[in-house]
Amino acid sequence: MAKNFLVALTRNTISLVGTALAVASATLIITLTVIQQMGFQGSAYLGLITFVALPMLLLTGLILIPVGISRERRRMAAAAAEGEESVALFPVLDLNNERVRKNLIMFLIFTTFSVVVLGSATYKGVHVMDSVAFCGTVCHTVMQPEYTAHQRSPHARVPCADCHIGPGADWFVKSKISGSWQLIAVALNIYPTPIPTPIHNLRPARETCEQCHWPTNFVGDLLKVHTNFAEDETNSQSQTSVLLRVGGLAGRKSSGIHWHVNPDVRIRYKSDESRENIYDIELTRQDGTVTLFKGDPAPEGEESPDWKVMDCVDCHNRPSHRYRLPSDEVDMAMVSMDIDHSLPFVKRESMRLLQAGYESHDQARVDIPTGLEAFYTTEYPELAGTQADAIARAGDELVEIYTSNVFPAMKVDWGTYPDHSGHQESPGCFRCHDRKHKSEEGAKIPRKCDTCHTLLADEEVDSEILKILNP
Ligand code: HEC
Ligand code: HEC
Ligand code: HEC
Ligand code: HEC
Ligand code: HEC
Repeated sequence: MAKNFLVALTRNTISLVGTALAVASATLIITLTVIQQMGFQGSAYLGLITFVALPMLLLTGLILIPVGISRERRRMAAAAAEGEESVALFPVLDLNNERVRKNLIMFLIFTTFSVVVLGSATYKGVHVMDSVAFCGTVCHTVMQPEYTAHQRSPHARVPCADCHIGPGADWFVKSKISGSWQLIAVALNIYPTPIPTPIHNLRPARETCEQCHWPTNFVGDLLKVHTNFAEDETNSQSQTSVLLRVGGLAGRKSSGIHWHVNPDVRIRYKSDESRENIYDIELTRQDGTVTLFKGDPAPEGEESPDWKVMDCVDCHNRPSHRYRLPSDEVDMAMVSMDIDHSLPFVKRESMRLLQAGYESHDQARVDIPTGLEAFYTTEYPELAGTQADAIARAGDELVEIYTSNVFPAMKVDWGTYPDHSGHQESPGCFRCHDRKHKSEEGAKIPRKCDTCHTLLADEEVDSEILKILNP
């Protein structure tokens, strides 16, 4: 039986090709998996080769083998029926035969050659595919929002893979498999727009962020000053300033905002998919006491079964893909004079033009500058001539702001991806610090403004404190 099978296998080309395919792809799968387990980092594309393309070749090979065999058996049966002598014998490999010798040598040269070519192509390909430019631009439309924001962020020089994959083999394979699926989704055009957030299988911050930022670093107080412009004719300026108690671990005592990530403290929570609605919060303090704060109960069937341990990304959910709100962007551009704040109503007009809604970036590139020009031509005709340069520069800056934050092709609009590291754009900190979560003893998570910061100035004109700091 086994002999018959082997004879049928070796006597027909289809099965032989199938066998070669199966053996070659199985060898490559094993080699690539071992290399990756040993810590070699590659992108999702290497995963696509290892876990999708090669297994498909392996399967094709495995299908070809029985197809060839059954064809060969039918041929042999037909030959037997016609009275021919049955040829259930192995092919003879006679090395004295010149033709056999030549073919064998050709076969060996060809195999070596393909292994070398395939190996170096994979090596080169993986290097190219790992680069930020490749991640961000190959699936250009899909990754454009994240790529653009990444290029403007403090992490612009940190490769995508450092946060999304990180070192080590276990998560590597996991992210490879999900990365492969994402590539297929892109190829078939069945990916969701906008790309959903949060990423539930993001590698724990402990193993990514903490490669570069150590949680025990003491930051202390951080002063933040924000200049606001009003939407009146003179674009009236005011200042808001907070002294943020970021804190951290100083000596053995930790305090302030970074107390949450003290390695001796553990906070876990249960929430819905979006992590915007947090139900239960469990706090384990340094001395080991555990407090459970209960919030509103989860709606029927929506509670996540697992506890999520709080880490950096629960506050810094936009370390690399930070999309700002139009008023913040315009205020910053007006401070730097990319938008000249002496232009009347320029804040109001900027806000109107940024929020108008455009079909594409190309349309915004045309409509925003013409819209701004049209406003000054009709309302301030004289200024439109003398300040033509400033108006044109403001128009360009608004286009830059729009195309960095809004991506119509991916349905990313203002506020689609809010930042959790405050409470201005989204509930952020107030998801827990809302005085609604209560322990059995009635303790609440504080919401007093002074818990987190001292508000030095709140939309003040010529505030005293800022005069002292910046005379
Ligand atoms: C400094 C770390 C870091 C870097 C570098 C980084 N990301 Fe991210 N990325 C994140 C975090 C954190 C999230 C949001 C996770 C969450 O909210 O669950 C995210 C989310 C995403 C998402 C989901 C959509 C969204 O905005 O939430 C995509 C897609 C993405 N990143 C692609 C990229 C690409 C492409 C690059 C390289 C150009 C990159 N990332 C570089 C940390 C990073
Ligand atoms: C490969 C190293 C590296 C990794 C990984 C990394 N960061 Fe950073 N991060 C930096 C550097 C360098 C800066 C400082 C940039 C600067 O000073 O402009 C920075 C700055 C920051 C800042 C200050 C941003 C600001 O606006 O000034 C925050 C917050 C931050 N990182 C959070 C994170 C979080 C959260 C993660 C994990 C998701 C992370 N980082 C992963 C290197 C890294
Ligand atoms: C409870 C929320 C919260 C958690 C958790 C948290 N941070 Fe922060 N972090 C903040 C806030 C708020 C600031 C200051 C405001 C800002 O820069 O946006 C800050 C500031 C920072 C800065 C900038 C410090 C500077 O000198 O400018 C870095 C870097 C940073 N965090 C890294 C981390 C890392 C890494 C982790 C995880 C180990 C982490 N943070 C966990 C809220 C948090
Ligand atoms: C997942 C829930 C959760 C989120 C989100 C959260 N916190 Fe907290 N925070 C807590 C809990 C729980 C405590 C402890 C309350 C207690 O001591 O009883 C706490 C305590 C604090 C404290 C007091 C720390 C100390 O010195 O003892 C500060 C400050 C603070 N949080 C700031 C923030 C800021 C700022 C943000 C948003 C950037 C934030 N928290 C987001 C759960 C949260
Ligand atoms: C749980 C911590 C926490 C509590 C409680 C809190 N804040 Fe904040 N607040 C923050 C953080 C974090 C930021 C973000 C600072 C930044 O990075 O711009 C912020 C920002 C602000 C800003 C904007 C500053 C700016 O840059 O424009 C104002 C205004 C403000 N808070 C007012 C308040 C008031 C009023 C209260 C009391 C009802 C309060 N906050 C309670 C954490 C808190």
